[in-house]
Amino acid sequence: MGFRLGRRSFLALAAGAGATAVGAALFGGSGIGDRRPGSAAAATASSGVRSSGGLLQLDLVAQETAVQIPGGPATALTYNGLLPGPLLEVEPGDRVRIRLHNRLDRPTNLHYHGLHIPPGGNADNVFLSVAPGATQDYGFTIPTDHPAGTFYYHPHRHGTVADQVFGGLGGVLIVRGALDRIPEVQAAREQVLFLKDLPGEGGIFAMGAGMGPGRMLGREGPVLTVNGQVNPSLAIPAGGLVRLRIVNGSNARFWRLALEDHPFHLIATDGGALAEPVELRELLLAPGERADVLVRGDRQSGSYRLLNLPTVRGGLGMMGGMGPGMGMGPGWRGGRGRGGFPDGESAAVIATLAYEGAVALLPLPSRLLPVAPLPEPARTRRFVLDHGMAPGMGMVFLINGRAYEHGRVDTRVRLGDTEEWEIVNAGVMDHPFHVHINPFQVVSRDGRPEPFLAWKDVVIVRAGETVRIRTRFADFAGRTVYHCHILDHEELGMMGVLEIA
Ligand code: C2O
Ligand code: CU
Ligand code: CU
Repeated sequence: MGFRLGRRSFLALAAGAGATAVGAALFGGSGIGDRRPGSAAAATASSGVRSSGGLLQLDLVAQETAVQIPGGPATALTYNGLLPGPLLEVEPGDRVRIRLHNRLDRPTNLHYHGLHIPPGGNADNVFLSVAPGATQDYGFTIPTDHPAGTFYYHPHRHGTVADQVFGGLGGVLIVRGALDRIPEVQAAREQVLFLKDLPGEGGIFAMGAGMGPGRMLGREGPVLTVNGQVNPSLAIPAGGLVRLRIVNGSNARFWRLALEDHPFHLIATDGGALAEPVELRELLLAPGERADVLVRGDRQSGSYRLLNLPTVRGGLGMMGGMGPGMGMGPGWRGGRGRGGFPDGESAAVIATLAYEGAVALLPLPSRLLPVAPLPEPARTRRFVLDHGMAPGMGMVFLINGRAYEHGRVDTRVRLGDTEEWEIVNAGVMDHPFHVHINPFQVVSRDGRPEPFLAWKDVVIVRAGETVRIRTRFADFAGRTVYHCHILDHEELGMMGVLEIA
């Protein structure tokens, strides 16, 4: 079964693709220390920072930056004037020291999404608040047995997180380890793809940072960027392999990727390696999700389009006339109405893969790294995701009937325990459920066992669906959170506090 575009999609592509030049660079850096929106220069792979001598040390300046997008100048929020923020690379055992400077006019902080590190102190502490003009030092050690993988840093100050991520803040953190030393993986050319939909002209301030139906759906921006660029060109050698490390850095948008004539060979999910590659025709990533895939340069030399296909994740339009579950059958992918999303019906070219040079034919790995199943759970809990109307507040988003409250502990677990969590989506929108600090394994969806074991920290729970996950609260005690990673939903209440003790 090959990947095929429908005729309608081709027409939409023909209309949309010509509008932007291949590889147009949009964003760039004003230097560290620039307080005002600066001039732009392209963010490139060279803006990375690697640990050396067992230490990763850098300053991150959260600031407004002037950018050019199709349609005109806009303001984005960046780290160090770069979009995405600098690419960070560490190894297990490394120490990390980051000094965050808040040059925004709202409070912020930093979260190290997916890392297994302490949730308190000045490590992955989402309860810290860094005031405008203030500086915060973060420090932690990557555990020596930390899995290799593709992780994601972004702001996590409740009340400003959705605006700041939507405005542009976020970056990729790579942990290098055993997966990267598998010879077939090591032989692949590596490419990070940070997916971000940006607000159009005027930036986030023009999109409205307040309430409104957009906020309830989860705001999606009309400008689709990969590494801060519109339709960049990626090179693959004929016969060779490219490893794409893909991060969905969006506030709310689900990205559904397909590469013309080339399957993806999935080698890692959020939390690291699979046991063996899994071949996929398309890849769906919710906000916060990551995937590492190998692509094989075994087709005719030429250029192939990386597409973002239409997807529907439920919507407010269904809340009146239609009951929950309607239209949620297998045909939901791209086939249904738009549900109020900006580009719900047309595929978009987001990057172009171009054959360049040639190498001797490289094999795919047959084995990766073992994924140990988690033991039987000490207990099972149930989390019901829903929304409701609160007097004077409009729509609120709830977990087990409650909206997030700072300082209230919703779930207490024992350090070292394995638990099974049943996540029930009782609403009419899909919710990507995310847990901090410890990765989990998806056990089943609506009673159907998951086809393969994988380490995840975000799982899409479809409207009406029940997903069971299993996790172990290993190594670190303290308070942290779980929430919907449509960050507008998190802000509107769909988050709970987890205490590990
Ligand atoms: Cu990506 Cu609570 O975060
Ligand atoms: Cu997180
Ligand atoms: Cu949600």
